[in-house]
This record gives sequence, C-alpha cells and structure tokens, in this order.
Amino acid sequence: MSDMLVKLYDLPDLEPVLKQAREAGIDIRRAIAPEKHVVIEWVRKHFGNGWASECEVAFANQPVSCYLAVKDGQLAGFACYEATCKDFFGPTGVDESLRGLGAGKALLLASLHAMRSLGYGYAVIGGAGPKDFYAKHVGATVIENSTPGIYRGYLKQ
Ligand SMILES: CC(C)(COP(=O)(O)OP(=O)(O)OC[C@H]1O[C@@H](n2cnc3c(N)ncnc32)[C@H](O)[C@@H]1OP(=O)(O)O)[C@@H](O)C(=O)NCCC(=O)NCCS
Repeated sequence: MSDMLVKLYDLPDLEPVLKQAREAGIDIRRAIAPEKHVVIEWVRKHFGNGWASECEVAFANQPVSCYLAVKDGQLAGFACYEATCKDFFGPTGVDESLRGLGAGKALLLASLHAMRSLGYGYAVIGGAGPKDFYAKHVGATVIENSTPGIYRGYLKQ
C-alpha cells in the first residue's frame, strides 16, 4: 500500500462535514486520556494489534492525537495522526455497521485540520488503503515508490 500526500493549505471546510455527521447522530471530538482503555480495546477488536499499538502512541501525545466518532454514547470510529511518524495521518476506521454516514470523512478532516494547526503544509497518509476515498475528499495523491515505505520489515507478532 502506497503513502499519499495531502495539501493541508487546500483542505475543505470542517464545519459542513461535522454537521453532516451530527445529523446522522455522530459526534466527532478529540479523545481524552481516561477513555484510552476503551478506545484501544475497541481498535484491537475491530482492526487488530498493529492499529491498537499506533493508537496507544497517539494517546501518549499531548494533546491526544486521536479523534473519535461517538454515536449514542458508543464508539463508532477513530482516527489518529502523528502515531507512527511525525506528519502522518492514520490509522483510521469506522464500525462496519456505521459506515456511509459521514463519520470517516469527518474524522479525516478533523485530523487534517488539527495537523494544519500544528504548522504543517502537507500531510502524509501512511499506507493508504481506500485511495479513492482520500483522493475524493481531500485531493490526496499517491507518492510513487512508497511501498513498503516506513513500514519495511516491521514485526507483526
Ligand atoms: C475508509 C472508512 C474509514 C470510511 O469511513 P465511512 O464512515 O464509511 O466514510 P464516510 O461515510 O465518511 O464516507 C463518505 C464518502 O466517502 C466514500 N467512501 C467511503 N469509503 C470509501 C472507499 N473505501 N473508497 C472510496 N470511497 C469511499 C463514500 O462513498 C462517501 O462519499 P460521498 O460523501 O460522496 O457520498 C471506512 O470504510 C473503514 O473503516 N474502512 C476500513 C478501515 C480502513 O480501510 N481504513 C483506512 C486505512 S488507510
């Protein structure tokens, strides 16, 4: 999976996508430390140990570099940035039964706007899975020859 590059100076506005998610009953907000155990176990259960490890690193950042999607008081999705590398977005995921409601797009944009506020001009989407999703919503472009990139030879067990 290739990495992708996003122009942070050309991002779509955040408020309309937050509103779309809210209308579907989904709140997007930054995670806070006391819910770390809930989030990590949810990520592990839905997406595996590797993403749970990355999420733990995001929780070690101050402020926590992880946004959550919450529906009816339950975790519906998450997005991290600056977990495995500075200036990298990811991992991110939404509960399978709640996809298509705008949570993924809102988590992505909330994170990228936060990265812009940190002072970055561009962001890297690490090991981008759904390339069309990133291209469509934030104009991301594939970085040539970026596979396996920073993930070369990492230990999975
Ligand atoms: C990718 C993911 C986070 C998107 O979450 P989501 O909540 O379903 O996304 P949204 O509802 O915000 O999608 C909004 C838009 O993106 C489009 N979209 C969603 N997933 C897409 C995909 N895989 N490929 C292309 N377009 C996609 C939708 O059609 C929709 O378009 P519209 O706004 O024009 O109607 C979710 O599919 C997921 O968790 N996938 C598994 C984990 C994963 O691959 N994470 C990314 C790792 S790099």
